[in-house]
Amino acid sequence: MSSGARGAHLDEVYPTLPFKPVKGRGVWLEDEHGRKVLDFYGGHAVAALGYGHPRLSEAICRQAETLHFQSNVLPLAVRDEAAEKLAAFAPSGLDRVFFVNSGAEANENALRLALTVTGRSKIVAVEHGFHGRTAAAGAATWGAKKWYGFPRTPFDVVFVPRNDVAAMHAAVDDKTAAVIVEPVQGLAGAFDLATDFLRAARQACDRNDALLILDEVQSGIGRLGAPFGADLYRVQPDILTTAKGVAGGFPCGAVLMTPTIASQLSPGQLGTTFGGGPLACAAVVATIETIEQERLIDNVRELSALIRETCVVGPVHGVQGQGFLLGLKTTPPAAKVRDALLERNILVGTSTDPHVVRLLPPLILERQHVELLASALEEIGNAAL
Ligand SMILES: Cc1ncc(COP(=O)(O)O)c(C=O)c1O
Repeated sequence: MSSGARGAHLDEVYPTLPFKPVKGRGVWLEDEHGRKVLDFYGGHAVAALGYGHPRLSEAICRQAETLHFQSNVLPLAVRDEAAEKLAAFAPSGLDRVFFVNSGAEANENALRLALTVTGRSKIVAVEHGFHGRTAAAGAATWGAKKWYGFPRTPFDVVFVPRNDVAAMHAAVDDKTAAVIVEPVQGLAGAFDLATDFLRAARQACDRNDALLILDEVQSGIGRLGAPFGADLYRVQPDILTTAKGVAGGFPCGAVLMTPTIASQLSPGQLGTTFGGGPLACAAVVATIETIEQERLIDNVRELSALIRETCVVGPVHGVQGQGFLLGLKTTPPAAKVRDALLERNILVGTSTDPHVVRLLPPLILERQHVELLASALEEIGNAAL
């Protein structure tokens, strides 16, 4: 098989790029021929510590040798430790953690929780938002009609235009269980919502006894240059969901909630077989400890500023987003810029905005890597695409 081809038995739902890595080290991926590609995409924002980080690898290997799995029927010290670390890393007040396996599953549970504890039937979401592909998460996802696949949505949904404060206030009423919103809309191209808009969502929820769910599946775990968007924008959610980088690449998601919400749940109302498994939990502990000890949030802030300063060149005419969830606004189609960068051994992503290239690099990125991106963009220029 050639180095870019997909195997014959995989379904073809994903268009793939012509590079087939066999290993990774730091922020570099390498294929079987020794071609090295600088990863500014991190497997959709997952590889927070890059590849082969010794702390993450050791934690997973150690846990695999000690106890590779047990379900939630038995208490585990490593699960307790992961929940404690995550609650301490998160905005104060979100003291209760329910571990799951993915972002969609986290949102599915968050929405169910909000509908259950409020006894209401309506969800307010934001245009261009993405929350996952399962029944509830997909129902709250803008534009999901194209692929939703279920005959009807499980609750009423009202979508509010981005940054429309008046529309947010008008949409939230006494039938609303929750507002769900990403502080920075990832798939939409790292579109950072206005602080006023996010605060309006909080106020509208307060006025109507509804709950605010922040979907930090993509924006969380240090990626915005703060532990979470909730910290960056000073907007306190009742429920926060996270996944992607939380375990550095080991599948894991989490729903964080206030003790008041948690106290309204009875045993058996939420559940999962794999969620909170020991390997995922060991990876959560290692990931958060590494982010703190290597001061990676400071690194994100510094290098994000450098990207803004140096990467508005060639096909790029502007930058949106925060931290390492950035959208490079391109004059030519973003897909062409992505392909031209990959030809120069730099991997970036696209988004639902055809003129935004998405950067989601590992938090361990260094200055020299930003310099490589800037000079590749300069070399690509504008005219040839
Ligand atoms: C903001 C947001 N929420 C939810 C999801 C769904 O996560 P998963 O693919 O892990 O189910 C994603 C995935 O891209 C996301 O970006």
